[in-house]
Amino acid sequence: LTALTRAPILQPNATGIDPVDGHPVQYYTVTQMAAVAAILPRLRTPILGYNGIFPGPTISVERGTKAVLRVRNQLPLRHPFGGHLLATSTHLHGSASLPQFDGYASDLTNRGFKKDYQYPNYQQARTLWYHDHSVHTTALNVYAGLAAQYHVHDPQERQLLPQGEFDVALTINDAMFAANGSLGYDHNSHSGLWGDVILVNGKPWPTMKVQRRVYRFRILNASISRSLRPTLSTGDPLIVVATDGGLMPVARSVSSYRHASAERYEVLIDFRKYTNGQRILLRNLSNDNNVAYANTDKIMAFDVVDTPVNTGDPTWNTIPTVLAGSEIMSLTTAQSTKTRRFRVKRNDRTNLWTIGEDTWQDVVASGFRKVVADPGLNAVEIWEFENSSDGWFHPIHMHLVDFQVLSRNGQAPFPYELGPKDTVYVGEREIVRVLVKFGPHRGKYIMHCHNLPHEDHDMMVQFSVGLADG
Ligand code: C2O
Ligand code: CU
Repeated sequence: LTALTRAPILQPNATGIDPVDGHPVQYYTVTQMAAVAAILPRLRTPILGYNGIFPGPTISVERGTKAVLRVRNQLPLRHPFGGHLLATSTHLHGSASLPQFDGYASDLTNRGFKKDYQYPNYQQARTLWYHDHSVHTTALNVYAGLAAQYHVHDPQERQLLPQGEFDVALTINDAMFAANGSLGYDHNSHSGLWGDVILVNGKPWPTMKVQRRVYRFRILNASISRSLRPTLSTGDPLIVVATDGGLMPVARSVSSYRHASAERYEVLIDFRKYTNGQRILLRNLSNDNNVAYANTDKIMAFDVVDTPVNTGDPTWNTIPTVLAGSEIMSLTTAQSTKTRRFRVKRNDRTNLWTIGEDTWQDVVASGFRKVVADPGLNAVEIWEFENSSDGWFHPIHMHLVDFQVLSRNGQAPFPYELGPKDTVYVGEREIVRVLVKFGPHRGKYIMHCHNLPHEDHDMMVQFSVGLADG
């Protein structure tokens, strides 16, 4: 069995002070490039990666410290198995970035060029991720390896939850491999990719040695299409403490939870009661609308070791119950000024996936891309996603904003969804209502399905914020 590895933390290449507002700034550089990874025993797998690794280096910043991320495109001319030209756009998923730094799908950086992305990091502590967002080629570029975690810390989160080596980023995705070790992909699929190998931080079904204490896991599902339903082999709970947008108001213990691609859940696992040498499996229960293979019901394993625990670290045995409020979780539907409904489904005539009957290809008479909704700056609205596509689930992601999940088919959301979110699982025949506050920036932003072959075929639209109200 392979040992779990952790993505390195990226060091800034310079620090400074923003001359306008006096905030500290950290400057980072990553280079997108081709590399060869050792994923399967005795085989070599060509990948594309930030700094040539998958997952890419983790960026870790304090709330209130700005980051400038220089992304250099040093990729080959063409994708190793997609064949398309490698022009990229980098999106920091979970960040309220200005439109010009948000990884707009057609804002491409060609090979040999670079772009400096500015990230404000004023939002509450959370787990974000940066990944490629190039128009029509996101699935193949992310699948080849262009994905990485990004963490914003703040004092509240540092006080409540384990830090450092006990704060463990887990980036999970599925993949399929050819006999020579190269990644497999079905080019004709508009529908999705389901691999037979589960990778955690780029290693198949790894094991991690754990001390008998409480650990925090930042779980990102970076799969192209697959959703997960993590559960522990012991039957003990996973304690969900944070969702996409950071700490939940209260911790929620669950025996399993549904986790679509692009969603982030932070969970605590309490290893105190296990014994030295015990192995605990993180399993994947079956979820609707996925393709299962022999071993896709396993994710990874934890091996308990009898290392003395540092009991001076108060998080070693603390399972906090009350966590943190946030603006979006304190809003109520009484503050909403408008309700909009979007049906999500395939258009049987064009075979494209649609949101509210629209796709990324839809332009209006002026030749500009259609704007599907135009809320005012700081407007609060209810958006409803109605999944009328039989046999599919769609993780719907809105850029810029956090939202609160209000209901699913008229029922209360699942307990683990009761935190700030930016991506919501819209399962087969579900109607999901979310409460959104549009801001803090004006501009045009994207909403799309995060099943990436759906996004690329053309389940993506744009909305504007604060442009209609001037
Ligand atoms: Cu994770 Cu629009 O992306
Ligand atoms: Cu979809």
